[in-house]
Amino acid sequence: MLIKHKGRLFGDEIPRSEITPRAFFENRRRVLKAAGALAATGLAGLSGEAFATMTSPDAKGQKLTAATNTKFVPMDKVTPLKDITSYNNFYEFGTDKGDPAQNAHSLRPRPWKISVEGEVKNAKVYDIDEILKLAPLEERIYRLRCVEGWSMVIPWIGIPLAEIVRRAQPTGNAKYVQFISLADPSQMPGLSTPILDWPYSEGLRMDEAMNPLTLLTVGLYGEVLPNQNGAPVRVVVPWKYGFKSAKSLVKIRFVEKEPKTSWNEYAPAEYGFYSNVNPNVDHPRWSQATERRIGEDGFFTPKRKTLMFNGYGDQVASLYQGMNLKANF
Ligand code: MTE
Repeated sequence: MLIKHKGRLFGDEIPRSEITPRAFFENRRRVLKAAGALAATGLAGLSGEAFATMTSPDAKGQKLTAATNTKFVPMDKVTPLKDITSYNNFYEFGTDKGDPAQNAHSLRPRPWKISVEGEVKNAKVYDIDEILKLAPLEERIYRLRCVEGWSMVIPWIGIPLAEIVRRAQPTGNAKYVQFISLADPSQMPGLSTPILDWPYSEGLRMDEAMNPLTLLTVGLYGEVLPNQNGAPVRVVVPWKYGFKSAKSLVKIRFVEKEPKTSWNEYAPAEYGFYSNVNPNVDHPRWSQATERRIGEDGFFTPKRKTLMFNGYGDQVASLYQGMNLKANF
C-alpha cells in the first residue's frame, strides 16, 4: 500500500500465476455442482462432501472441515491456493508481496488467546480452539478487492462475527467494533520498521459487524489459515477494501467512538474509515474503476470492472442509505 509498490504490482509476480492447475478447476466444478443441487432442493447450507473435494493437493496446513454455505458461492473462479498464499499484504512481516510467505513462519498461531472486551456485559478471553467450536464452521467463497487495484476469490472458512457479538452482549454504548492484531517483535520482524503505528488496528460500525457477510475467519481452502493470511484468526469484510480485514487478531473491542484505524492514521485523505469498495471514488494514486484478478488476468487482459460494494450491494447497500459515499469514503 506504500508508494514504492506503485508500478510493481503489475510486474514479475504475474506470469507464474497465469496457469491454474487442472485439479483446481475440477474441484471447483464439483463444488458448484453440489451447490447447484442443494440450491435446487432448497437445502442451502450443507455440502460437506463437496467441501472435502476442495482441498488443494499442494496444501500443507492442518485440515479443517466445513460445509460450504451455498449462499456465498459467486460465479467467479476461485484463485489458486499458491497465489492466495504467496501474494500477500501483511506488513508485520515485510512490505513486499512475497515477504509474508517467506517470513511468517516465525508467527506462533498456537496457543492463542483473543480478548473480547470493552462495552459488553460478557467480556471474555477465548482460546482459539473455543472459537473453532462456537458455531458450525462455514466455507464462504468471497471476492477480496485490494485498494491497490487487484482482487482474488478466496474460499474462506469461519463463523459469522455476529456469533461473537451476540455472546458478548454489547451495552447501549457500543457503537463500533475495533479489531487489534498481534504486535510481537519476537514473532513479527516487520514491526522493527515503523511504517504504521503498531499494533495494526481496524474497525467497523456495529451494524457492519453484525451483517451476516462479516466473517470471523479461521481457515481457507479446507485448512487452517496459513500464517501469511492471518493465522490463527482474522476478520473478513468482503464489501470493503482488503485492508479492513485485519489479520492475526488478539482483541475485539467494543467502543463508543469511531476507533483509530492504522491506514486512516497513516494517511487520512487516502484511507477512509468506511473504505467500501466503490468504483466511483478513486484513491489519489489508484483508480478504483477497474481491477486485475490475480492468477487469472494477465498483463494484456483488459481490466475487469470493479463492482459497487464489491458485488455485495444487495446485502449491504441499505447500511449506507442517505450517506454521501464520496465524503464518507
Ligand atoms: N492485517 C494486518 N495485521 N497487517 C496487514 O498488513 N494488510 C491488509 C489486510 N489485513 C494487513 C492486514 C491488506 S492491505 C490486505 S489487501 C489484506 O489483509 C490481504 O489479505 P491476504 O494477504 O490474506 O490476501
